[in-house]
Amino acid sequence: MRTAILASGRGSNLQALIEACQNGSLPIEIVAVGSDQLETGALKRAEAAGIPTRVFLVRDYPHRQAQEEDLLIWMRENRVELLLLAGYMRVLGSEFIRQANFPVVNIHPSLLPAFPGLHAQRQAVEYGVKVSGCTVHLVDEGLDSGPIILQEAVPVLPGDTEESLAQRILVVEHRIYPEAVRLLVLGKVERTGRRVQILQKEG
Ligand code: GRF
Repeated sequence: MRTAILASGRGSNLQALIEACQNGSLPIEIVAVGSDQLETGALKRAEAAGIPTRVFLVRDYPHRQAQEEDLLIWMRENRVELLLLAGYMRVLGSEFIRQANFPVVNIHPSLLPAFPGLHAQRQAVEYGVKVSGCTVHLVDEGLDSGPIILQEAVPVLPGDTEESLAQRILVVEHRIYPEAVRLLVLGKVERTGRRVQILQKEG
């Protein structure tokens, strides 16, 4: 399945997806990587893997919608069938989501619907929850609000900081993001309204 990935930062989830493709556990073809930032770790990792990259700097556009129109053109040119957000720090507008006629998937470092938005790990530490985790979900028009494909819990330990919790969650992210995408592309993700069921068939 022809897949594009959007990432804004260091790109460790992008790297996990690239490696899952390379070792044969994830049957997608990453055909393009885009970023809204220059010279990110994500772009460097994509280039190292031989994947074409494009930068869509918001400052180059008169308004956000123009940037998203360009993103859609870029995805059409690349005949994209699946879009994965891997630390993409911009919310995609409702017009983009409406026009994208392919699934859009995101990973978020909390057990949604708890702690959506920025600094999810900091929010979890400050709130004092004993369990947090990460969520892979389909993207809808809201903020981190789409149907949930997979989640996994991670303990919040006494003395945790935002950084230590983020690191513990990240290890799990790198495992469940490729796994959730694998289930989706193998047709094992069945959606009824906002509820997603994982089908337990072989393969
Ligand atoms: C991850 O924690 C992801 O859940 C969130 O942004 C972070 C991206 O990290 N959406 P990386 O760029 O994949 O290393």
